[in-house]
Amino acid sequence: MPARSADDVRIETYGGARDNLRALFELADDSAAELDSYIEAGRVLVAVSGAEVIGHLQLTGTGDPRQAEIKNMAVREARQGQGIGRQLIQAAVDLVAAEGVTLILVATAAADTGNLRFYQRQGFRMRSVERDAFTPATGYPPGLLIDGIELRDRVWLDRAVLVRVHLTGDRQDFEVPASDGAFEGTDDRAVVVVRPEHVQRLAILAERDGTRADP
Ligand SMILES: CC(C)(COP(=O)(O)OP(=O)(O)OC[C@H]1O[C@@H](n2cnc3c(N)ncnc32)[C@H](O)[C@@H]1OP(=O)(O)O)[C@@H](O)C(=O)NCCC(=O)NCCS
Repeated sequence: MPARSADDVRIETYGGARDNLRALFELADDSAAELDSYIEAGRVLVAVSGAEVIGHLQLTGTGDPRQAEIKNMAVREARQGQGIGRQLIQAAVDLVAAEGVTLILVATAAADTGNLRFYQRQGFRMRSVERDAFTPATGYPPGLLIDGIELRDRVWLDRAVLVRVHLTGDRQDFEVPASDGAFEGTDDRAVVVVRPEHVQRLAILAERDGTRADP
């Protein structure tokens, strides 16, 4: 059978019971106790192929309205490596950009070098390390190895949310960090309302792009 691509996949907001997604959540977290503590939290996007959910991404808040966290995400083993994870991340970024979020956080195991690669390929950068975050006290079995590395430390990464600034006429669009503007959400895209203190910076960015901004 030929390898499938992600062409058949659509990303949707999930409204069903979280328990139905538990097997997917478990791919990303080895602690049942930890999972119980957050599985009902926040919102979930799902990757759907036909009638089947083949991947998910859970988005939660952090207490700071300008931040969102990818709390748990996974793609079914048979469909990994086909760009579905990338699609889920992009959908999450688009969703929170329209809500005024300027930074997305994610945490993963330092031992999981595959995940570290995946998130960095999606534009995330290292933020901090929480040593000994994965312990028997938090429900992680002792001596668990990932790729021969003991599961111990948690790495936090973050990615600035960029928004596309639409200039009128034939001027080229360009992207700025969401933290540079205020936002009004419309049905499917964010409209940037530029604050006076950012006008000069945006004009410089636009000129660098070969256009002249008249904000
Ligand atoms: C991590 C995960 C969600 C990525 O989803 P995916 O659909 O396989 O990822 P994509 O196909 O969109 O991959 C995008 C890129 O990341 C790379 N990548 C993804 N997973 C990788 C891994 N384990 N090791 C190395 N590279 C990886 C892909 O090769 C691809 O690279 P490219 O941009 O050079 O082509 C998925 O592998 C998964 O479900 N893993 C198990 C659960 C898990 O660990 N979740 C994360 C918890 S923090």
